Amino acid sequence: MEQAKRYELPKLAYGYKDMAPFLSEEQLTVHHTKHHAAYVNSANAILDKMDKARQDNADLDWKAVMKDMSFQIGGHILHKFMWENLAPTGKGGVPAGKLLEELTKEFGSIERFKKEFSAVAGSAEGSGWAVLVYCLGTHKPLLMQVEKHNVNAIPGFRILMVLDVWEHAYYIDYKNLRAKYVEAFWNHVNWEIVGNRLEAILK
Ligand SMILES: [Fe+2]
Repeated sequence: MEQAKRYELPKLAYGYKDMAPFLSEEQLTVHHTKHHAAYVNSANAILDKMDKARQDNADLDWKAVMKDMSFQIGGHILHKFMWENLAPTGKGGVPAGKLLEELTKEFGSIERFKKEFSAVAGSAEGSGWAVLVYCLGTHKPLLMQVEKHNVNAIPGFRILMVLDVWEHAYYIDYKNLRAKYVEAFWNHVNWEIVGNRLEAILK
């Protein structure tokens, strides 16, 4: 029988020490190997549960399963996007090419875009994410604020850049000072990756 396909915790393209002082080794390690790993494991456990129910022809509490699945898979996917759009200390760069063009056209300036994204990140209630997406309906970038890992997410929008503002993302280094963490994030955006994502969407 073919081996069941499962989610995997992605390896990071940098070392756990490479984000300091934006993110300490401890903060990044715990976030990746404990929190993200837990979403991967939980997502896979849900797939196992559904497989087993089908084998046994058993009933499931579908409402609970679907809710949990949206949360766990959403958590996995958003973390995967974020690890990729973070750059190690000194490697952040600036937006360029089509990305610079699209952001400037929509937001007026990169400064205005950063201000809005930061405000979206800062005002997420409880645990959530600030997300920059591209809408293929209007052909322009948009901001999205996701609560938890899935609430207020709009289907079909393509993700360009995300920032995790769950306390688990910053509390070891910043305690309750989320705004400081968001401010420091701007020196750690991998603009090349974000730009490549946009180019791939526009193709
Ligand atoms: Fe997280």
